[in-house]
Amino acid sequence: MRVRVNNIELAYSLSGNGIPLLFIHGFPLTGKIWDAQLTDLNDIAQMVAVDLRGHGESQLTPGPFSQPVAYEMEVLASDCIKLLDNIGLNIPVVVCGLSMGGYVALNIAHAYPERLAGLILVATRASADTAEARANRDAAVDLVQDRGSQVIAAQMLPKLLAMENTSAYPELVERVNGIMESVPATAMIGDLLGMKARPDATPWLSAITVPTLLVHGAGDQIIPFSEMEAMAAEIPDSRLVSISAAGHLPNMEQPEKFNQVVRQYLSDLDIQANGD
Ligand code: MLT
Repeated sequence: MRVRVNNIELAYSLSGNGIPLLFIHGFPLTGKIWDAQLTDLNDIAQMVAVDLRGHGESQLTPGPFSQPVAYEMEVLASDCIKLLDNIGLNIPVVVCGLSMGGYVALNIAHAYPERLAGLILVATRASADTAEARANRDAAVDLVQDRGSQVIAAQMLPKLLAMENTSAYPELVERVNGIMESVPATAMIGDLLGMKARPDATPWLSAITVPTLLVHGAGDQIIPFSEMEAMAAEIPDSRLVSISAAGHLPNMEQPEKFNQVVRQYLSDLDIQANGD
């Protein structure tokens, strides 16, 4: 399904009945990473899994490849809010973002606090890029411009899953790789420039008033546990859960454990389902 927001067509999947819940994927992925949630949580949540602009079935920001445009986290947050408005969910919803999707979710928490019923931060951080990380983004942009998006997919793949899962789950590796290879070079560059430009969200954390669940994969090779602990310490009503035998994609690597944690969190939330 698609809606027009901020001058682009944005695609999303919809599933289930209950507490409204928006899923925001990470880099360089699509809404397909949430398939196991869309099937298993459909008795408790009305779920929307967005394809961020340029990803999956959503349109790219218009413009020539030679003049890359940053996909700023605040623009991606605005896309998400307008998507919700367009499909009749102009009410508080639970927002769940993974990694770059977590950066977008924190922007929603900051810019649209009235739209949050709850927040789930998965494998993400609040801090801005370090100078070294920014230099790495520039190098990655050059690489994509010279050699296309597949080279980034190949670089990311060994880091996305917990090390033991890369050999244990070849089908999952294939699936994640296929998702990454579907993301066009222009969108990867937009993401890299957008993430590089993002501000430090740490000062926003203490203002988050909704119950917040933080989920970390114990074998995450990208986000250290300490980053999520630091976030949890700042967010007043928060709970941090570590999922064993999972890396940067705990929702895909350990879907049953992940879904159980989210189900418990949703059950504890004191909000009405949409339309009740
Ligand atoms: C992601 O998984 O979205 C990215 O690894 C986040 C990042 O590069 O900062």
